[in-house]
This record gives sequence, C-alpha cells and structure tokens, in this order.
Amino acid sequence: MDKPHYEELITAHGCNTVKTMESPRLIAPPKAVLFDAYGTLFDVYSVALLAEQLYPGHGQALSVLWRDKQIEYTRLVTTSNDGAHYQPFWELTCAALRYSCKRLKLNLTPEREAQLMNQYRHLSAFPEDREVLQALKAKGVVTGILSNGDPAMLDVAVKSAGLEGLLDHVISTHVVRKYKTHPQAYALGEKACGCPASQIAFVSSNSWDALGATWHGYRTLWVNRQNLPFEELGTPPQHTASSLRAVLDFFPD
Ligand code: LAC
Repeated sequence: MDKPHYEELITAHGCNTVKTMESPRLIAPPKAVLFDAYGTLFDVYSVALLAEQLYPGHGQALSVLWRDKQIEYTRLVTTSNDGAHYQPFWELTCAALRYSCKRLKLNLTPEREAQLMNQYRHLSAFPEDREVLQALKAKGVVTGILSNGDPAMLDVAVKSAGLEGLLDHVISTHVVRKYKTHPQAYALGEKACGCPASQIAFVSSNSWDALGATWHGYRTLWVNRQNLPFEELGTPPQHTASSLRAVLDFFPD
C-alpha cells in the first residue's frame, strides 16, 4: 500500500527548514543513519584556503575543478571495462589534482602536490558533525559512514575530526572496487546495518549521491549547504535541509 502523501510539510528546526512529502510521524524512524563523507561530514572546499595561498586568485577554481574531476574519475573507472581501470579514491584524487592544475595552468611542484594532498587527508569537519552524531548516539541510533573514500583516508579523516567513538560503521566502497552510485556500493550500507535501504536514512550533501541513494531505496536527506538546485532527473530526495542537524527530525521524541 502506498504511504500517505501530504502537501509539503514544513518543519522548522532551528535555522534549518526540512521539507518532506510524508509526515514523519506516520512512518517508523529509520533503524540507522549513514552519512556520505566528503562534502557531507568533511569540507572538501576547505582545501581552497591552502590552494589560494599556493595559487593566489585560483584557490576557489582549483578546489571546484579538483572535486568535479575526482568524481568524474570515479564514474569513469566504475563504468568502463567492468572496472578493469579501478584505482583507489586516494589515487583518483591525486590524478584529479594533477589534471586540474594542468587545465588551470598552475605549476604543481612535487612539494605543492604533497601539501595539497596532505590537506585533503586532513579535511576540516563541519562544526555541527560532532553534536549531531552525539545526539544520534544519545537516542541509541546506529550510525555510520558510507563513502567512496578508501579505508586509510577515512580512518585519518574520522580520527582527525575526533568522530571515531560516534560511528558504528565506517564503510568504504573500496571493498567492491566500485564507486557510488553503483548499486553494489550502496548495498554495502544495507549489509553493514543488517536491514534494507528503506529502513536506513542516508545523508549526503552531494546531490548526485542523494539521488543515487534515493534510487537505491534509502530514505534520503540532502543537506544543501550551498543553496544549489537539485539534479533535474525527475526524482527528488525525500528530505532537504541546509544543515546536518535536520537528520534529527527523523527521530521525533
Ligand atoms: C564520498 C564522496 C564521494 O563518498 O563524497 O564520501
């Protein structure tokens, strides 16, 4: 039977606005919450600061192109030749940096490459991450990361941000050598949590990831920090908000 749909229900949550097409009170809370890592818990554009110091006037452009190229490479290696060209996320991130510097005509010396990659390894966490994860743990919710990042990258990022005690699962798609949005990558979250995607909330700031997770069957929250349009492919995320804090609305008291 179809779940009841309502006119847009707007729940004020601090400075956030959660828009949902279903009343949260009529559906059971999710059994677990999985977060995307890069862009969602960790600020990929924080490298722009260092990039700007190294290449004045180009920091923003470099960080945006670097990110876009990194994601493009994940799709290229996942969809071509049955994954024969797979490389771990760290390698693809480095390749994307090299490409982006060439494209922008920026001189990437080995020292600068090492500096920028080291910065990527220690990305800033968003300020609300800790408090949101603590609130979820206080409610007894199973939490985790489901990320394209390889295990070593995720390990450092989680530890640098001091989040290790607040996550039950840190899942890397590296084990299936396929990146999101491949179904095998999303299925890792179901396997780890021991329940179907329909019982798991998936939170991402990346619109393509929120869309892929929605198509896979997760209950999705798109954290649209930059006030961007969503993908124009006909499927909206179930929920949209401007801050990670909105994930707590899945669990009304
Ligand atoms: C992640 C990147 C792609 O999976 O955002 O963490």
